[in-house]
Amino acid sequence: MSLLLTNIGELTTNDAELGRRKDAALVIERGRIAWVGDAASAPAADIATDLQGAAVLPGWVDTHSHIVFAGDRSDEFEARMAGERYAAGGIALTVAATRRASEAELRATAAALRAEAERGGTTFLETKTGYGLDVESEVRSAKVARSVADTVTFLGAHVVPPGSDAREYLDLVRGPMLQAVRPYVDAIDVFCEEGAFTVDQSREVLEAGRRAGLELRGHGNQLGHSGGVLLAVELGALSVDHCNHLTSADVAALAASDTVATFLPACDLSTREPFGPARAILDAGGTIALATNCNPGTSFTTSMQFCVATAVLQMRLTIEEAVFAATAAAARAVARDDVGVIRPGARADLQSLRAPGVSHLAYRPGVPLTDAVWKDGERVV
Ligand code: NIG
Repeated sequence: MSLLLTNIGELTTNDAELGRRKDAALVIERGRIAWVGDAASAPAADIATDLQGAAVLPGWVDTHSHIVFAGDRSDEFEARMAGERYAAGGIALTVAATRRASEAELRATAAALRAEAERGGTTFLETKTGYGLDVESEVRSAKVARSVADTVTFLGAHVVPPGSDAREYLDLVRGPMLQAVRPYVDAIDVFCEEGAFTVDQSREVLEAGRRAGLELRGHGNQLGHSGGVLLAVELGALSVDHCNHLTSADVAALAASDTVATFLPACDLSTREPFGPARAILDAGGTIALATNCNPGTSFTTSMQFCVATAVLQMRLTIEEAVFAATAAAARAVARDDVGVIRPGARADLQSLRAPGVSHLAYRPGVPLTDAVWKDGERVV
């Protein structure tokens, strides 16, 4: 069964040859894009949908979220808005609630957030463990994550849980915990920050993950110059995320590497950290991505559209750069080349907007513009 989407007012493909085009059409067949071109020369298909001039673009690729959790931290948020600074210690509250929750409860919360993200145009989602922090709870979290996300990251090294010895906990993470979660995860991550893990400890964690055949990701330079960014670049991580506090050496290292610098603007607003220098990395030739960092502590949103709008309005990205960062560049951060683009052969993961062009994503901030969403060629919204 083939589906023709026609009368697309503006089609953003992220493909160098196909570009951003007016009056376009595309054909979906067996879950993949089969054809892209001018509406006037579209081939026939089994079903045709007239999009009446709407904009179409790839579905969002959200490469940083922590949606497997229980509990609420709105009190902590309120205290922050009254002047307190975010510190890694708040994670312990979510850990306690997550350990108490059943697998079914965790799955229900995570599935609801995934559905909310999908309604906002997200068609590919990464999520992490990291609120269990003992072997049993991390395995439970990894199983839930596997059932709701497209790719799963092991974040046993989120913080040292209260009451544990740092050395013993690190050995647990690198050894039995890693082994136990391994069947459910694709990558390993570490929170390299004051109050969490040092550079040397983070290196131990990432190297153990690499030996287990996992891709590497990092939380780096969120609250200060933690050294996490340079470590991620040195180890060839797919992505290093947060990047709020970067020196010119960090920017140069990122720009010269294949490690994607992932910015999390909703988190920066909620923690009142300065936005990271995404503009400088782009100007130096590096690759940047945008992600929500959906979690109950620092960034309780699933809205990629909000992140795109903020990156344009506050971080001085152009519309095109921000959309690319939230789709095709983000796909690089999860080692995928079949999502985040609209070209023949790519997965048919796309969205149409209640708007004639992608500029409206920032021109109309706060207005949910995603209209229809297709994932693997199926209409899901
Ligand atoms: O990416 N920075 C580390 N982890 C999360 C926050 C987790 C929390 O505070 O619950 C983040 O911001």
